[in-house]
Amino acid sequence: MAEVVIVENRNVGGALVADEIVRLIDTVPEPVLGLATGSTPLPVYDALRTRLAGRDLSHVRGFALDEYVGIDPAHPQSYRSVITREVIEPLGLDPKLIRVPDGAIETIQHAGDDYDAAIVAAGGIDLQLLGIGTDGHIGFNEPGSSFASTTRIKTLTEQTRQDNARFFDSVHDVPQHCITQGLGTILRARHLVMLAFGEGKAHAVAAAVEGPVSAMVPGSAVQLHPHVTVVVDEEAASQL
Ligand code: GLP
Repeated sequence: MAEVVIVENRNVGGALVADEIVRLIDTVPEPVLGLATGSTPLPVYDALRTRLAGRDLSHVRGFALDEYVGIDPAHPQSYRSVITREVIEPLGLDPKLIRVPDGAIETIQHAGDDYDAAIVAAGGIDLQLLGIGTDGHIGFNEPGSSFASTTRIKTLTEQTRQDNARFFDSVHDVPQHCITQGLGTILRARHLVMLAFGEGKAHAVAAAVEGPVSAMVPGSAVQLHPHVTVVVDEEAASQL
């Protein structure tokens, strides 16, 4: 059963999760963070900035959840760019120790297996941040994803492309495919921290946390994990 923490607002939620990450960095010799993109984890990264200012973070490693396939890594909306801009640079992490799945077409055949092998070689992810899509996806694991899935290519649903169109000039510019950590990969992290804020996530949160465990709600995979914290505001908790 997931621990559900209802917070006053997203900044309080961000601070709470940031404190947990700082504790991890203070106690684990070689901490491995599971990073997420999207607007939801931004308050966590904001809160970390002040907490980690001036700290030596040269031992902190990280793995992002996902990336678009075929996007130039230098494109401002590639998740490599987003993670660099929102996490690596503001926190002062070592870019060589922070990996994002490789979305290059040429290497896509083995990029997933390589990524999962790199996570294993790093000793596994200590704390994985997760947002949730309005259709219940985590990472880019859309409804129908296997709970045993490993990092692989997926086709984005129309809904997700529409949701993400705000970051591009138009929905036509949103890539069709992505490479995402699988649900099986995510479930191997030692602690899952799912965040959701706002009314628009209420249905997905209720389905993930209290609904039947079903491949049609990828977020419900968290019910299979022994250590899950769900951080939500009143609005996102309104259907629990
Ligand atoms: C994208 C990301 C997910 C994220 C979701 C929700 O699809 N791949 O990891 O959880 O968007 O985004 P937001 O947090 O902006 O609502």
